[in-house]
Amino acid sequence: MTAMPAITSHSLADTLRRRRQQLAKQLDFPVVLWSGQSSARNFPANTYPFRANSHFLYFAGLPLMQAAIHLEGGRLTLLLDDTTPESALWHGPSPSREQIAEQIGADAAFPYSHLAKLAPDAATVLVQDAATAAEQLAILTLHPARDHALAQAIIALRLTHDDAALTSLRQAATVSVQAHKAGMAATAVGKTEAAVRAAMEAVIMGENMTCAYNSIVTTHGEVLHNEHYGHRLQSGDLLLADVGAESPLGWASDITRTWPVTGEFSATQRAVYDIVLAAHDAAIAAARPGVEYRELHLLACQVLAEGLVDLGILQGQPQSLVEQDAHALFFPHGIGHLLGLDVHDMEDLGDLAGYAPDRHRSDRFGLKFLRLDRPLQAGMVVTIEPGFYQVPGILQDPARRSQYQTLVNWERLQQFQDVRGIRIEDDVLITAAGSDVLTAALPSNTKAIEALVSRG
Ligand code: GLY
Ligand code: MN
Ligand code: MN
Repeated sequence: MTAMPAITSHSLADTLRRRRQQLAKQLDFPVVLWSGQSSARNFPANTYPFRANSHFLYFAGLPLMQAAIHLEGGRLTLLLDDTTPESALWHGPSPSREQIAEQIGADAAFPYSHLAKLAPDAATVLVQDAATAAEQLAILTLHPARDHALAQAIIALRLTHDDAALTSLRQAATVSVQAHKAGMAATAVGKTEAAVRAAMEAVIMGENMTCAYNSIVTTHGEVLHNEHYGHRLQSGDLLLADVGAESPLGWASDITRTWPVTGEFSATQRAVYDIVLAAHDAAIAAARPGVEYRELHLLACQVLAEGLVDLGILQGQPQSLVEQDAHALFFPHGIGHLLGLDVHDMEDLGDLAGYAPDRHRSDRFGLKFLRLDRPLQAGMVVTIEPGFYQVPGILQDPARRSQYQTLVNWERLQQFQDVRGIRIEDDVLITAAGSDVLTAALPSNTKAIEALVSRG
């Protein structure tokens, strides 16, 4: 197993006990959740970093490798082998099964092989690594209806966060804010994207955290999930950085900022940036319990469309432009997603968590990448991340150009070529009174961003 994150066993055990009691209230059948194992990278002993399955983490608390938990009626049985002398030779000693069982408040603990005696009838969620998934299928008799009921029960719990989760989410957010400030300070013409990424990830690693997802640090922000870091920063470039820390217990953060590499936005960059910021601010201001997340998305689209009409890039009535998805030419993704143990929380379950029962993805150009369509509840954490991108695959597509020929002033758009991609992303806790932006310590207005870059 990996080293134990520092946390008092008393509070961890209490939290985990409460979570499994809440699960037990919803289910009348046993459950087994697996942690998984690391996958081989290029040969078996050289592996990708281990990341425990998030459903396991939610109820077992610790990133134990090759472990399982059996849950029934609120009781937790830990299935885990003690470290062998051979493993200890390479990886060092680990706490014993009994010590771990005490830390997580397990009611019983057995070697992993005992699972075969406990499990056949249990419901589960399949993990991502293929070897463990095969084991799950070999040990269990599958019950699709039960597995679905289990997924729904877990979603009902994980949609909103308890105090322990919020403490970890805030820790991850704080470190991500520091990473972004370090990235701004490290930015200078002539450096590479890789050097800025290194400065940002150094902060995360220095706090003994990991990245919650592959960092995006790019002067080509129009490539939405750009994972190349080879460009040299040139005067006039905007740098888009989407970097988030994951706490030692697995809780994620997800921040994007976009800044000018010289420390000063051009007039065109500033104009578009302020429109994206207005969309971001409007969506956050409207977030509160009972509001549909889809409405926040449409509000951001409306503000974006209004701004682009004012700039002369779009032509027409903003509301009608949004109804025709014209905004999606420049903002083709959704306003955000759930955040928790996963950066796109519970997306291993497809849209089951993101979409309320009986709701499905739209095939509309402006809605099909919306990852969350539920009414907001106090205790949810969501991201708000509008953007503006000039994606050649969209804007040069003959069918789109013809469809939107009269709604875009293509000549005017030519004057904004130094704006390839802008995104502004924050992590927002929904509270009874409205919202609390967990990442608010990182400024988003142009003046403060310019100061942070120039100070570096
Ligand atoms: N970092 C991925 C996202 O913002 O969804
Ligand atoms: Mn995000
Ligand atoms: Mn992001």
